[in-house]
Amino acid sequence: MQDNLKQTFLAEIDNIKYIQELSNLKAKYIGKKGLITERIKQLGSLSPEERKVQGIFLNELKNFVEETIKNKEVQLRQQEISEALKKEYIDITLPGKDFYFGGSHPVNKTLFEIVDIFRELGFTVEEGPEVELDYYNFEALNIPKNHPARDMQDTFYVSEDVVLRTHTSPIQIRVMEKKNPPLRFIAPGKVYRCDSDVSHTPMFHQVEGLMVDEKVSFSHLKGMLVYFLRRLFGEEIPVRFRPSFFPFTEPSTEIDIGCIICGVKGCRVCKGTGWLEVLGAGMVHPNVFKFAGYPHGKYTGFAFGMGVERLTMLKYGIDDIRLFFENDIRFLRQF
Ligand code: FA5
Ligand code: MG
Repeated sequence: MQDNLKQTFLAEIDNIKYIQELSNLKAKYIGKKGLITERIKQLGSLSPEERKVQGIFLNELKNFVEETIKNKEVQLRQQEISEALKKEYIDITLPGKDFYFGGSHPVNKTLFEIVDIFRELGFTVEEGPEVELDYYNFEALNIPKNHPARDMQDTFYVSEDVVLRTHTSPIQIRVMEKKNPPLRFIAPGKVYRCDSDVSHTPMFHQVEGLMVDEKVSFSHLKGMLVYFLRRLFGEEIPVRFRPSFFPFTEPSTEIDIGCIICGVKGCRVCKGTGWLEVLGAGMVHPNVFKFAGYPHGKYTGFAFGMGVERLTMLKYGIDDIRLFFENDIRFLRQF
């Protein structure tokens, strides 16, 4: 009968699969009203000889039950851990998830490169407002109201006298009003025109340049800009100067580089001509000096303006300017 108790206990504990069940089993045998506990309580009603034998036996059984439950608990805990490890197994041979660092926008990269080259040539950097007075954007640049040259740029008007600047040239006037020659600066910034197709967007970036001193000549202009284009596009780049017209320069020129995409043979990007316009430039018109308040005839200077998106397209062989402003991460990551 006593052996029986041990056998049932062993059979029961063998069936247990979860640690939570162990406390019930423990209560059933050695709890306050447990089977073994009850028997121990009844020892008093036995004869002294019986009591001694039963006492030793029940005590040993009680210790055995305690010990067995403790061991079972350790075993179940171990099992739990190894099952969890199996379930939460991480295959470290799988390729990891990629993550990317941010980077400069391609237009900014070109812009920084332009600024660096001119800094080395002794140019400083100036800025001006994007919402600009008609006076600085047109009038003081020798483009009076109703002048046909205003049609060259499709202007966003804020009011009768205020525009979104259509070029960075108004910064020429703003700087000359404050500073006297010698002047040598560039002025990068956003400009706005009501215009949109594969090579035009309503907002784009220009870099203006102005150098004014006594005896600044067209050969200075030519030398600086050829040097600049070779630094940006490489020594071998073909450069050509074409006569052109801007109201604020005289003489005026537009500067082309040989088409990088087709090697000056003629393609879609250069519209079959083999050449691409990258810069407008010229010698500062005497009327512009007059508006800036400089004495007549004392100074000469050259000015230039370039489209940064245009230069970036040529540098990286991009054939649609709108890609710059879609912010498609797959496009931007390539730079
Ligand atoms: C000018 O804006 C003159 N202010 C440049 C200048 C400065 C001439 C100083 C003489 C002295 P133009 O309108 O050609 O010029 O524009 C200059 C460049 O801006 C162009 O060569 C072209 O690269 C770029 N550009 C013009 N319109 C757009 C547009 N909608 N989207 C992107 N780029 C444009
Ligand atoms: Mg032009």
